Amino acid sequence: MQIIVVENYEEMSLRGAEILAAVVKEKPTATLGLATGTTPIGAYRELIRKYENGEISFRDARTVNLDEYVGLDGSDPHSYRYFMQDQLFSHIDIDLSLTNVPSGVAADLAAECMRYTKMLAECPQDIQLLGLGSDGHIGFNEPGAPFGGHTHVTDLAASTIRDNARLFDRIEDVPTRAITMGIADVMQAKKILLMANGKNKAEAVRAMIKGDVTEACPASILQRHPDVIVILDREAAGLL
Ligand code: GLP
Repeated sequence: MQIIVVENYEEMSLRGAEILAAVVKEKPTATLGLATGTTPIGAYRELIRKYENGEISFRDARTVNLDEYVGLDGSDPHSYRYFMQDQLFSHIDIDLSLTNVPSGVAADLAAECMRYTKMLAECPQDIQLLGLGSDGHIGFNEPGAPFGGHTHVTDLAASTIRDNARLFDRIEDVPTRAITMGIADVMQAKKILLMANGKNKAEAVRAMIKGDVTEACPASILQRHPDVIVILDREAAGLL
């Protein structure tokens, strides 16, 4: 695990975007595993800047997102499909038919999980970007999610609902379930880039890096992946 500690969110975003851009430059047909949340917004902004400068193109790239809320369709501003359109896809030259987000409104969610797992196995991520939940979750793999798991529907932890409520009008509006890549789907990525910033993440960062590898802290599995880069701001690295 390579750990990079930087001063602030801005620097974290620039470093993260550099790493993502390098993958696309080296392999224009790369599969990029993408994440939502507040953490990657700055890195996406920087990728858009690199695209506008003519430094990179996403024309032949494919994307696979980690997760989606159950019950929200892509036109809902709180959905992760909408987030990706809004924060990245609509600003770059990606072929939308090559972008993948699990569907939270599929009539048969179990079938959707199987479809997504199969699709991931067929085009493994050249790089997977991750944020970190304050309870150590990755994607929506909450504490206790099996390390061998594939795409599945999960209940959200109370702390996750509380954390994410800031993005909704009322806490009652936060969906209580999500469809997420499993830990095994994340771990199949050739390279993993995790970014975390802010004091709220410091304990989860400590458990991920210094703690035992345990399903109680889903992100701790990353200690077993051969190519992981973790970029932290000073506050998130505060308990290391
Ligand atoms: C969310 C997402 C994760 C994200 C994490 C942190 O619930 N499912 O993929 O990494 O929580 O979010 P944020 O970046 O907003 O702190």
